[in-house]
Amino acid sequence: METLNHPATEDQSVALDKDGFDSAKWLSYFIANKRTRPIFSLPPDLELDEQIKLPLIRSLQRFQIGETGDGKHLRKFASRANDADYSRCVDLFIREEQSHGQLLGEVVLSLGGTLLTWHWTDVAFIFLRRILGLKTEILILQIAEIIGKCFYKCVADKVENETLREVFSVIVLDEIAHMHFHSEFLAKQLGTLSWMTRVVVHYAWCVIFNTACFVFILDHKASLDALGISSSEFVARCSKEFHRSARIAFK
Ligand SMILES: [Fe+2]
Ligand SMILES: [Fe+2]
Repeated sequence: METLNHPATEDQSVALDKDGFDSAKWLSYFIANKRTRPIFSLPPDLELDEQIKLPLIRSLQRFQIGETGDGKHLRKFASRANDADYSRCVDLFIREEQSHGQLLGEVVLSLGGTLLTWHWTDVAFIFLRRILGLKTEILILQIAEIIGKCFYKCVADKVENETLREVFSVIVLDEIAHMHFHSEFLAKQLGTLSWMTRVVVHYAWCVIFNTACFVFILDHKASLDALGISSSEFVARCSKEFHRSARIAFK
């Protein structure tokens, strides 16, 4: 097993665990990441070009909702895996997502926006995640992680505000680790299924991923345009991450 110092790099293969999913290793990572990740103190007014500010607020309002869930169902499903370290990992993972939600909320407010209390895309994701058990929950969650990571990376690369670049760079690093965490766990879970079931699950996952990308583009095209990223480029970036994750999960 390779040592996991920090799996959050663009090259996920750096952190690949050749022995399969190791919940103790991931628990060490989540504990260390909680201790070392920076704490941001945002100014009350974040300067940003008006052309990008309004569509960005609109997009971040939606992400903020998605990052803020209490994770009750995921915790419940995770507890059935009978792995105490994995349950603790999931707990720390949910807290990281909640910290993203809190940060995004502060960003939206500092940009002059308001926070949403719900959004239909979040309700749809929650519905899909809870249809079946833990595998479904993680498979759907992984799609949200991939799209979120790619969008946050665009923001980190493109906004002309140093504070926002730092905030989104840190979130991107967390999301890369999350994607890898879920991929390795899925590999263990999906490995118990028959060959035919895995083919069907993989196909269904691809369909849901492509649908999610299509819906995302429809809903967030204004902010992608403002960030200077074409829809096709964004989908290509998401697809690259998706196939990388699928290679690990369905190995
Ligand atoms: Fe997140
Ligand atoms: Fe995440």
